[in-house]
Amino acid sequence: MVDVILGLQWGDEGKGKIVDYFAKNYDVIARFQGGPNAGHTLYINDKKIVLHQIPSGIFHENKINLIGNGVVLDAITLKKECEAVASFGGEFKKNLFVSERTHLILPTHRAIDKASEIAKGNEKIGSTLKGIGPAYMDKTGRNGLRVGDLLSKNFKTDYTKLRIKHQRILDNYNFQEDISIGEEEFFESIEFLKELNIVNGEYFINEKISAGKKVLAEGAQGSMLDVDFGTFPFVTSSNTISAGVCSGLGIAPQKIKEVIGITKAYCTRVGSGPFPTELSDSTGEFLRNTGNEFGSTTGRPRRCGWIDLVALKFACMINGITQIVMTKADILDSLEELKVCTTYMINGEEKNYIPFQMNGLDINALYKSFSGWNTNSSDIKHFKDMPENMKIYIEFINQFLGVSIKYISNGPGREQIVSV
Ligand code: GDP
Ligand code: IMO
Ligand code: MG
Repeated sequence: MVDVILGLQWGDEGKGKIVDYFAKNYDVIARFQGGPNAGHTLYINDKKIVLHQIPSGIFHENKINLIGNGVVLDAITLKKECEAVASFGGEFKKNLFVSERTHLILPTHRAIDKASEIAKGNEKIGSTLKGIGPAYMDKTGRNGLRVGDLLSKNFKTDYTKLRIKHQRILDNYNFQEDISIGEEEFFESIEFLKELNIVNGEYFINEKISAGKKVLAEGAQGSMLDVDFGTFPFVTSSNTISAGVCSGLGIAPQKIKEVIGITKAYCTRVGSGPFPTELSDSTGEFLRNTGNEFGSTTGRPRRCGWIDLVALKFACMINGITQIVMTKADILDSLEELKVCTTYMINGEEKNYIPFQMNGLDINALYKSFSGWNTNSSDIKHFKDMPENMKIYIEFINQFLGVSIKYISNGPGREQIVSV
């Protein structure tokens, strides 16, 4: 049996915290897509750690954490992450497993990412520049190198061939930086990676499922950054939605039971691209400062706005969401008035769907207003004690989406979560 936790917005919904919270109920926690563009924040003994590629179940004893074939893996980042995890008491040597089909991010992928972004001029994606797009391009272009290839005696030759191809691409971009920077560290880091538990991920996970073990698949990014269904081209390069679980881990769709969607009580986006409910005023500033909305991976300020129910309903549809966790409800505690976007006004017409191309469209978000609750909600342990106005806000969202919010997260701490 497999349950999924994924983001319903533009990433950073609090997936790391929620996966860490639920991990105790599972035997295997598995990442199925993305790479070090992700930044999943956890608090372990009140100390903060940000995970990029290691699943957020790594701090639970005797839980298997699998990096699936759908991930693109940066060995340099992974080595640093493993060291950080160890310093927090996580047992990566015993509990971390990597699929041999997982594609590798090479230093030249990062260089191509950078060169590509520079060439886009003022139409930049706002990529994290971690080499994600170029690594997935080499996967679908059938050029990439995989973790299993590290164990082959031809690895160095294959690496050199790919590096030559990459150099040609970089020459086309007229990219002048020295691409040998980072290579030495890469070769050191792959020696480290080779010592980890490298497995045939698809047999590994299916054997666990057959033996009755419970798997939690952890998404990265968010549904509106999905390469097919997000705000293309301002998206990431993988399928972030529930469908990505099957191809990113090698499991059949019938094995998936709960698909748990995470949304913030408001909305954020980091990087460029359409964001209909963005607030460029003092309320946006309030959300950024109160919510500490600065990128976990890049430190960039996140764009902030009201919750967007048109986009959320779309995300629920394409993912088959069965339950919702709402995070950061506490950030709204002191606001007098709250708004939720229920409709888009596009070219003078009301629309209730996500258009094919949102970029360049003049989308005016139409809102329903709610009174704030003006109560400190972060210490509340039971839903019955939550402020009435929060209950009204939540009930409206439930009705609109046709899926229920089952948990409210009311602080970054590990146990700050209330069952509805
Ligand atoms: P992820 O990428 O989806 O895992 O999310 P990030 O870790 O990038 O960003 C979420 C941020 O919100 C982190 O700093 C979390 O510690 C914090 N956070 C998560 N849930 C809550 C919550 O309910 N309330 C508050 N105040 N912070 C939260
Ligand atoms: P988590 O898992 C928020 C955004 C980038 C950029 C676009 C493409 O922490 O929620 P990429 O590096 O993939 O080429 O960037 O996607 N992005 C994220 N935004 N959270 C993330 O991950 C993100 N990963 C990528 O800012 O706009
Ligand atoms: Mg994040």
